[in-house]
Amino acid sequence: MRILVTGTEGYLGALLAPELMADGHEVVGLDTGYYKAGWLYNTNSSTPHTLACDLREVTPDDLRGYDAVVHMAELSNDPIGSLIGDVTYDVNHLGSVHLARCAKSAGVKRFVYMSSCSVYGIAEGTVDEDSPINPLTAYAKCKALVERDLTAMADDDFSPTFLRNATAFGASPRMRFDIVLNNLCGLAWTEHRIAMTSDGTPVRPLVHALDIAQAIRCALRADRERVHALVVNVGSDQANYTVREIAETVAREFPGCDLTFGEPSADERSYRVAFGKIREVFGDFAAAWDVAAGAQQLHRIFDNIAMEPETFYGRGHTRLKQIEYLLKTGQVDDQLFWKA
Ligand SMILES: NC(=O)c1ccc[n+]([C@@H]2O[C@H](COP(=O)([O-])OP(=O)(O)OC[C@H]3O[C@@H](n4cnc5c(N)ncnc54)[C@H](O)[C@@H]3O)[C@@H](O)[C@H]2O)c1
Repeated sequence: MRILVTGTEGYLGALLAPELMADGHEVVGLDTGYYKAGWLYNTNSSTPHTLACDLREVTPDDLRGYDAVVHMAELSNDPIGSLIGDVTYDVNHLGSVHLARCAKSAGVKRFVYMSSCSVYGIAEGTVDEDSPINPLTAYAKCKALVERDLTAMADDDFSPTFLRNATAFGASPRMRFDIVLNNLCGLAWTEHRIAMTSDGTPVRPLVHALDIAQAIRCALRADRERVHALVVNVGSDQANYTVREIAETVAREFPGCDLTFGEPSADERSYRVAFGKIREVFGDFAAAWDVAAGAQQLHRIFDNIAMEPETFYGRGHTRLKQIEYLLKTGQVDDQLFWKA
């Protein structure tokens, strides 16, 4: 297949693109390159040719000749939403819908969208794909809006697929330390200490970044009818962890790490997600990683690169810090377009 992957210079995209290339696909990337400053470690994987382009400025001509688009390029965490307000909607909602319209008018038949389990918000019990959604942040609301608008575009010529990913973890050259397991491992390595502010009771579904890549590859391999307007959670039933379990796993992996918990906190996001559907629709999907294996993988990499505190705390691997820096130094304008 000829596949355009947006967000190839991000945490997940940096892992996915080489995997698709190794599968024999022709891959072209598209990324505006906000996070190029952060590259944690080298591998011998190939990187695809990448168009330096803001997704809001894509044209149908950019998308002609592709069999599929995998769309990952968005502003990827909740606190960025509070920093830049409406820009989150411009990029994540309107930008994504614009990209999908361009893809459809260019004749691209498949569009795999990276949604998120955060659309469920705080929920009682266990939620599945048929549960009502309850997005609470700008980031999660945009995911829900894109799902709604792209579903309305689905027809004989255009099949969007919505992967509602759990929170990712694990190593990527374009590392993120602002997601829970990666952050706790970085703390354990750097400080030998994890001081949780909460009591650790909220539940978080987690999934390894490579298992997300696996789900995307399954979606691309599947017959089009099977993935047409499909909404599916990506993760595994065993990987609904309490934050306490995640922290304890990390503390076991990094001996000598002192772990403490705080008081219960009333307003924390908590949800348990069912992941049965992905195994039904993609018979070839099975999450291969648990958090213990992910923590072990990160430990090995920190060891290999003798990771310094500046690397962990710097702007290279924390999305909010890098966006703040680009704004403060005037490299991007208040709409997050690069200045000339
Ligand atoms: N990492 C997770 O835990 C997780 C969980 C669920 C869903 N997702 C979704 O998966 C996707 C990828 O996540 P990630 O963790 O790799 O994020 P990331 O921030 O590491 O990567 C996003 C990439 O998109 C690019 N980008 C952002 N705005 C752009 C724009 N306007 N035009 C062009 N490029 C732009 C950035 O430069 C970056 O390289 C996102 O849509 C995210 O919401 C991620």
